[in-house]
Amino acid sequence: MAANSGEDAPALEARGLSKVFGGVHAVDAMDLTVGRGEAVGIIGPNGAGKTTLFNLLAGSLQPTGGQVLLRGADITSWSADRRCRSGLARTFQVTLPFDDLTVFENVLVGALVRGETWAAAERLAIELIEHVGLSHAAARAGSQLSTGQRKRLELARALSTSPSVLLLDEVTGGVDQASVPGLIDVVRRIGQTGVSLVIIEHNMTVIQELATRLVFMHQGRKIAEGPAGEVAARRDVRALYLGEHDAAA
Ligand SMILES: Nc1ncnc2c1ncn2[C@@H]1O[C@H](COP(=O)(O)OP(=O)(O)OP(=O)(O)O)[C@@H](O)[C@H]1O
Ligand SMILES: [Mg+2]
Repeated sequence: MAANSGEDAPALEARGLSKVFGGVHAVDAMDLTVGRGEAVGIIGPNGAGKTTLFNLLAGSLQPTGGQVLLRGADITSWSADRRCRSGLARTFQVTLPFDDLTVFENVLVGALVRGETWAAAERLAIELIEHVGLSHAAARAGSQLSTGQRKRLELARALSTSPSVLLLDEVTGGVDQASVPGLIDVVRRIGQTGVSLVIIEHNMTVIQELATRLVFMHQGRKIAEGPAGEVAARRDVRALYLGEHDAAA
């Protein structure tokens, strides 16, 4: 029996997770543990391997090495679809709503995939659209949404599968500054419902508001991990991430 199985196991774990593309070690022996109800931030410069890590966790890519565990169960060989049905959901850095469907229909599809009856799926869609603050735009087509609204729709679609773990890839990326506090508020409220969160985020202020623990990635590797304030204050992190080259001097 695995040391960490059943009720005591972390929500999500990566053990020695690796992905090589040609000669590039995009993710290189990453260990990651996400506790139940915890919000962990993943930071790192462009190309650090953050999105690739999410693709490995969510099952859209198969790793070159290592394991992924969901509540102690080894899910490394599971399809993305099976992982999603088992409570592991994600949002995408570049959002892809069905442009011809309305906001309501987009969320409804997710709830139906989960196996809800039509009536239950409709109720869930209405509830989730309200939860992410999109009720006023429920009848609008995906193609007519602002970037901030697309990010909110993306959150509602991910929640429609009733996840226990949610991977968020740059929820505030490309969003106008005025829309950022509202998105932070939505993510925080999702965390308060007990969903474990793994949050990729470029904005250091945002990540420190949302995550209690930070993992810093560089060239596919974890080079720092700890309480958000401590990691954000490290000189090597600031030098690599914030471009404060003098900080490392
Ligand atoms: N499908 C792929 N094929 C080949 N190389 C890839 C592929 N996906 C990612 N890479 C490479 O893997 C490395 C990590 O990329 P990744 O997108 O995971 O970084 P990231 O940390 O998410 O960056 P960003 O902050 O810009 O989103 C990069 O060198 C990238 O070019
Ligand atoms: Mg990325």
